[in-house]
Amino acid sequence: VLLAKKLRDATDRDKRREAILDEYRELFNTPVLRLHALRDAVVEQMEAGLAGQPGGLMMLPSFVDVLPSGHERGDCYAIDLGGTNLRVAHVRLGEDRGSTEAMHIREWCVPPEHFDTDRGTLLRFVARCTAEVVREHCPGGGGLHSRPVIGFCFSFPVEQTALDNGKVLVWTKNFRGSYLLGQDVVAALRSELAAEGLPGAVVPAVMNDTVATLVALRYREPHTALGIILGTGTNCAYLEHVAAIGKLPAGFRPRTPSMVVNTEWADLASTHLPSCTEDLWVDCSSTHPGFGLFEKQVSGLYLGEVARRILLRLAEQVDLFGSAVPGLLARHNRLDTAHLAAVDEDDSPELSGVAAVLEEVLGVRGTSRQQRQTVQEVCQLVCLRSARLCAAAIAGVLKRIGHPGGNGTAGQDVPVPRVVVAVDGSVFAKYPKYRQRLGAALADVCGQVAAASIEMQLAQDGSVLGTAGQSSKGVRAKTL
Ligand code: GLC
Repeated sequence: VLLAKKLRDATDRDKRREAILDEYRELFNTPVLRLHALRDAVVEQMEAGLAGQPGGLMMLPSFVDVLPSGHERGDCYAIDLGGTNLRVAHVRLGEDRGSTEAMHIREWCVPPEHFDTDRGTLLRFVARCTAEVVREHCPGGGGLHSRPVIGFCFSFPVEQTALDNGKVLVWTKNFRGSYLLGQDVVAALRSELAAEGLPGAVVPAVMNDTVATLVALRYREPHTALGIILGTGTNCAYLEHVAAIGKLPAGFRPRTPSMVVNTEWADLASTHLPSCTEDLWVDCSSTHPGFGLFEKQVSGLYLGEVARRILLRLAEQVDLFGSAVPGLLARHNRLDTAHLAAVDEDDSPELSGVAAVLEEVLGVRGTSRQQRQTVQEVCQLVCLRSARLCAAAIAGVLKRIGHPGGNGTAGQDVPVPRVVVAVDGSVFAKYPKYRQRLGAALADVCGQVAAASIEMQLAQDGSVLGTAGQSSKGVRAKTL
């Protein structure tokens, strides 16, 4: 009798587990109609933002209206601040289409105390690391580098009135506090650099990582029209007609008809987002509750946490890991996106890679193949949703710029122009299955034929290369 009851319970649990999984299968494999609605919301919110109307995306003009030709030369530095790491590069640009004669990059993990910007130490840390690199490449600090050219890739929303200034609008990702809000981040950086012994430093450009990524690929790929980051955060920049950017300062005289605009698409708000209870938890326990809801379903800072929440639900409601809920599974941010990718990428017959993650990260041993498979499916679904949402947002930007991929049906008879999307960030660069799903999702949202004309290209180190190129150009423009 006992055995029969146990069997009944197990079958019942299996059924309930499948029912829960079905909820996510349906929601996360977001149907194309819903993705089209989301794409249209992107277009609407882009247009509202360009016109400076409420309810729109930030749509921040970058003042990059002349893109580097790839023939810039020069010796400069680029600071890249925006995620979990700070990178400072010394770059010597070569003669030929964005080639570099030399590039040295140093990287530091941003110490946790600087994420609380109210301590006022963030830029001091940045300046100290930068000064170290400048001294390394220019012993004595004199000669050519008495006025070192230092471009700043600063991956937060800033309001610019020129290439070389930017008021911080808000901190995002895991950075918080009110340091520098409403103030010029370039002026603040200059004064910290001066304090570190670089009073003559020239900072000709401050750029968002998406803008720099677009610029970097453009050197060798003139069809590049979008720059996307899929890393800790997510965002997109694209080339817009200057005439359509309502919020440029009065009297601004463009040198060309187009300018790169930073959309800050993290903030896309839509009833069409395929949200579940776990998203609410992730949002509530994040650094900026209520903000960046699209980013929280798409980017690397959150994917692991979404998966952990779903696994926790399965552990609590249908005993996924047995009668006790593993203690580590209940810990905030215990699973990160690198773990999620490792689980997802495991193609071994016994899913031994999944077992290893479960053991090392969650302390769960001796799992069955079926348990491992469920864990893998949850990770796959979380990734799938992200890729599908990203495809919908890309389609929105394509629709805005009039590329046929944006209307979802184009390309049956008429040739579709090739468009190149520059992408950087750890999620895209280090997670091959993510890239595959993004490609498949683009085919679903944009139509097979149009999708074939959309090339997603990895622009590795785009942030530093784009910033270096634009900075060299900026310096030249000022001296001419
Ligand atoms: C966040 C920032 C944005 C940046 C993106 C990727 O969304 O607000 O400026 O481009 O992360 O780093």
